[in-house]
Amino acid sequence: MSTTGPVPDLAERATACADRLLESGEVLLASHIDADGLTSAAVASTALERAGFDFETVFKKQLDETEIATIAAHEYDTVLFTDFGSGQLDVIAAHERAGDFQPVIADHHQPADAETAFHLNPLLEGLDGASELSGAGAAYVLARALAERGDQSADNCDLAALAVVGAVGDMQAVGGELVGANRGIVEEGVEAGVLAEGTDLSLYGKQTRPLPKLFEYATEVQIPGVSGDEAGSVRFLEGLDVDLKEAGEWRTWVDLTDDERQTVASALVKHAVQRGVPAKKINTLVGTTYELVDEPRGTELRDASEFSTLLNATARYERADVGLGVCLGNRDGALDRAQTLLSNHRRNLSEGLEYVRREGVTHEDHLQWFDAGDAIRETIVGIVAGMALGTDGVSASKPIVALARKNDEETKVSARGTGTLVREGLDLSAVMGEASRSVGGDGGGHDIAAGATVPAGREQAFVDAADDIVADQTG
Ligand code: C5P
Ligand code: C5P
Ligand code: C5P
Ligand code: ZN
Repeated sequence: MSTTGPVPDLAERATACADRLLESGEVLLASHIDADGLTSAAVASTALERAGFDFETVFKKQLDETEIATIAAHEYDTVLFTDFGSGQLDVIAAHERAGDFQPVIADHHQPADAETAFHLNPLLEGLDGASELSGAGAAYVLARALAERGDQSADNCDLAALAVVGAVGDMQAVGGELVGANRGIVEEGVEAGVLAEGTDLSLYGKQTRPLPKLFEYATEVQIPGVSGDEAGSVRFLEGLDVDLKEAGEWRTWVDLTDDERQTVASALVKHAVQRGVPAKKINTLVGTTYELVDEPRGTELRDASEFSTLLNATARYERADVGLGVCLGNRDGALDRAQTLLSNHRRNLSEGLEYVRREGVTHEDHLQWFDAGDAIRETIVGIVAGMALGTDGVSASKPIVALARKNDEETKVSARGTGTLVREGLDLSAVMGEASRSVGGDGGGHDIAAGATVPAGREQAFVDAADDIVADQTG
């Protein structure tokens, strides 16, 4: 049996990586602590389990020399890196040369300047790592190759659902839908009966939020009299000729019939038009949704976007075990614990956004920045920065650079841009990498979103360097 897999451009690399893994039979799996990293690990570990591997899984906040040395100390002959590894290829390759371990990498970050034989990354074949394939997508391509080369009955196409959660969690959707190599994965998931694709309201929380909350918390599009306005949302809904309550409780979006959804959506669009929301913004109210059809309705797991936020609420708070448990079929009641973590995460995101709104950002010529110190956890400051971009006082025409205290010696940096800025030449991966190294730190990522760690006390020098590099890029 030999096919090209879901991403033909990566077939050769996937086969080579799968064969190398099958040769060893025993691996250490190392992955990143966000939604994409967790789903990458879930996809890879399921594939390894099905292929009869002995393996162990570890999660890391950031891969650096110290962490790679810790991985080497596990004394596995083979280490599979998912959702990171490419950016630290120089360090990993040095361990490979020293005979510490054989690396196999399935990642989508900008590779460092070094080579290794078993490296699966969309950027190496001219595909975009920020919008066409995520870490979980790369892990999925590998899982498909493992099934094919390992002579087993499962084809691993059911894992496409988790791969889509990873891509959505990394915000890879372009104009509301997954494109490029991600499309091939969606198609395999639909074919395997684990995914359904639909066009629906694109607001966050359709599965789990009572209707007024769905609209009140809509930050994606600001609708005057509804967004951020509890009484306004209730008034809007009560003014419609549909019974949106059941036994006195507000229903959720997924409880509504198609006709009811149509009525509410049309009324929302009409309301937005009347309040002067620009047509371009109104169009983004509707988008492609990815439903995990084997998961229970009305839970976060049913919707790729809510699923990914649930996962971010675990591993970014040192509970990767809970997130992985959720991905692996709700092992040990993981879902309950994840939901508790989620309410904490939501509160932190909203307090983080409130902090940025209250304190404001400092405008340099080519970027804007804020230093949250201890006010925002370093593991979520990037999410807050991304959500803040384009809101009141935060310009959408400059990248945003967010700093938070990591420990006494180090400051974490997260940078976020927009598609328009990237088309004008912005590459935040290079900005974070070069600016951080100029002050003795390190960083990398994607053109549209990247991060770094810098020594405490060098923040201003770092921001100045970053400002100069953005100036050069966007001319
Ligand atoms: O480490 P990793 O690749 O998983 O993280 C990607 C990050 O880039 C996420 O935090 C995601 O929100 C961000 N991103 C973004 N806008 C995009 C694509 C990615 O903010 N268009
Ligand atoms: O790391 P990244 O920037 O991708 O994270 C953004 C996260 O914020 C996503 O998981 C997204 O689901 C979440 N989000 C949210 N509420 C919103 C908008 C986004 O929780 N209104
Ligand atoms: O941490 P944050 O969400 O800002 O990360 C944005 C992107 O930059 C992610 O893809 C992350 O893996 C990458 N990053 C990196 N090196 C760092 C920090 C972040 O490659 N030191
Ligand atoms: Zn990723």
